[in-house]
Amino acid sequence: MTKPTTIIARDDAAIRITDLNKWYGTYHALRGINLTVNQGERIVIAGPSGSGKSTLIRCINRLETHQKGQIVVDGIELTSDVKNISKIRSEVGMCFQNFNLFPHMSILENCILAPMSVRGLSRKDAEDVAMHFLEKVRIGDQATKYPGQLSGGQQQRVAIARSLCMKPRAMLFDEPTSALDPETIKEVLDTMITLAEEGMTMICVTHEMGFARQVADRVIFMDKGKIVEENTPEEFFDNPQHKRTQLFLSQIFGH
Ligand SMILES: Nc1ncnc2c1ncn2[C@@H]1O[C@H](COP(=O)(O)OP(=O)(O)OP(=O)(O)O)[C@@H](O)[C@H]1O
Ligand SMILES: [Mg+2]
Repeated sequence: MTKPTTIIARDDAAIRITDLNKWYGTYHALRGINLTVNQGERIVIAGPSGSGKSTLIRCINRLETHQKGQIVVDGIELTSDVKNISKIRSEVGMCFQNFNLFPHMSILENCILAPMSVRGLSRKDAEDVAMHFLEKVRIGDQATKYPGQLSGGQQQRVAIARSLCMKPRAMLFDEPTSALDPETIKEVLDTMITLAEEGMTMICVTHEMGFARQVADRVIFMDKGKIVEENTPEEFFDNPQHKRTQLFLSQIFGH
């Protein structure tokens, strides 16, 4: 029996970034970034302060606009077309350092807002979805509270649940644990590890190198607006190639 030939014509990448350049005024913040993230792939982005990590993440969600190059998310190119932008924002969840929950809304209300307004779910369906994901991040019993009544770690888990309620195809994290107490960091990382194990496509900017080692398929190291090194966590940590990476790791690990 001959094997059938399969011709894959469609672009299987979740996110494809080609020669991305971004300026803030005259400051050249991203300088020719090329990055392809496959479906289900977990990427950790590391690098010194000011290297452009947040800018890159924010360009993928069009929270910042780029001036040159191409970003394609799930086959849709990011242009100034509003339809594209809102489509991508509804498919790509984003979690920030400071949670960005609406303070005047209960946890449940925070979670049902976008599914109702963007996805068109009924309140009942949106609440069912919200409770499912709030249970999943082990916070279902807090649904009627307001963000200010929760700890930082709990708020961040709500923020993750809120993103998941949109059933995103990929999740972007920008230092989701860096505003948290050491004791609560683990509960948020555990939530992210569970997501990763379930096959979520993820790009995480984080200084949690233990998480990077455990979860990442690839670690990307940025410096001065460029990707200077890109490798498996094993190679990245044990055999860093670039001088800048070696310096960064020695500062983090103190050797
Ligand atoms: N809105 C802005 N206007 C002007 N310059 C900006 C703006 N946002 C960022 N920058 C500059 O762009 C560069 C990259 O910033 P970015 O926030 O992406 O760095 P980062 O790698 O995320 O740093 P950190 O680790 O401190 O979060 C920095 O030099 C920063 O000062
Ligand atoms: Mg940043």
